[in-house]
Amino acid sequence: MGKLTFVDEALADLREKGLYNTIRTIESSVGAWVQIEGRRVLNLCSNNYLGFADDQRLRDAAKRAIDEYGVGPAAVRSIAGTMSLHVELERRIARFKGTEAALSVQSGLNTNLSVLPLLLDKDDIVFTDELNHASIIDGVRLTKATRVIYPHRDTETLAKLLEEKRAAAKKLIVTDGVFSMDGDIAPLPKIVDLADAYEAIVMVDDAHGEGVLGSHGRGIVDHFNLHGRVDIECGTMSKAFGVMGGYVAGSAKVIEYLRQRARPFLFSSAATPPDVAACIEAIDILEKSDEPVRRLWENAQFFKSSLKKLGFDTGKSETPIVPVMLGEAETAWSFSKALFARGVFATAIAFPTVPQGKARIRVMMSAGHSRKDLEFAIDAFAQVGRELGAIRA
Ligand SMILES: Cc1ncc(COP(=O)(O)O)c(C=O)c1O
Repeated sequence: MGKLTFVDEALADLREKGLYNTIRTIESSVGAWVQIEGRRVLNLCSNNYLGFADDQRLRDAAKRAIDEYGVGPAAVRSIAGTMSLHVELERRIARFKGTEAALSVQSGLNTNLSVLPLLLDKDDIVFTDELNHASIIDGVRLTKATRVIYPHRDTETLAKLLEEKRAAAKKLIVTDGVFSMDGDIAPLPKIVDLADAYEAIVMVDDAHGEGVLGSHGRGIVDHFNLHGRVDIECGTMSKAFGVMGGYVAGSAKVIEYLRQRARPFLFSSAATPPDVAACIEAIDILEKSDEPVRRLWENAQFFKSSLKKLGFDTGKSETPIVPVMLGEAETAWSFSKALFARGVFATAIAFPTVPQGKARIRVMMSAGHSRKDLEFAIDAFAQVGRELGAIRA
């Protein structure tokens, strides 16, 4: 009992500071509307950018895969877990991204844990944006390289830091493509220029750019037309693709190296057939049509401009991630609760996920939202905003 009293203390501390997160349970499939506590509520917080999480075509593909391949591979990829579906997904990801090769792993988090420890040694330096995702931070922690954190999107400082460390054995710059809490985009063209000048490796985590940026949702590299200039693109199939799984795309030799040595690939079982088949179906849909991507952006523009007109601060968002900035954690939690009471599910994000005093409701737009859904949401934001004094009455 006594051994674990520190856990009671830690939980009590979270409650006292207003940081305790009550996690809601979804009782339906994840679409524009979900069922929670028996109520149907408008869903504004899944990463279901293209509405694929409950798309019938993906469901059917997953069912067909279960019939043909069963429910699991029952092995890690390197022993007996590589099925023809995995090989096909990797071929399709590489084609979609325009790279020589791709590797599929179990999640976006695992991509960062796969790549960073393999590329970096003790005499190397990794330059990492201060707002990079936790999985990048954890990937960096698994290396013995020296970590240099540069201010968010600040390429002038990055240039100075690269100059200072010019003599390092190996240099790697790693950045989120789209920053998940603010919805702003990494200055990738400038980063790539700096990388060329200083012979640094460039790695971008495109978790929130996939299916969102670029032609047919091909991601940030396509968005900036930087094909061939970014060494490693990684990302996830769990957001716009609506499924589960991560990938690394890049040169054939880097992918082969990962296949031989990446620990999540070697020591954690392969993704399941229904997941992999649904991912392939998502790529199929996107290759054939950019209609869901266009719908996503139309929704995002309509929603963002409507909130701005009401007087809300939507931060630095350049994408369908819309942070509604509210300041203190308590305000954000109260806002989220009041929205929920009005039938809108939009979670508050507070410290430690974002800095203290920068709590927000983070709204994730989806191509699955209809105009009527968005008007319903905007109405709820207006009412709650006035009630809580976040906007003028
Ligand atoms: C930038 C970034 N990388 C990686 C991940 C992790 O992806 P996954 O949920 O597939 O592990 C996320 C998800 O939150 C993310 O935002």
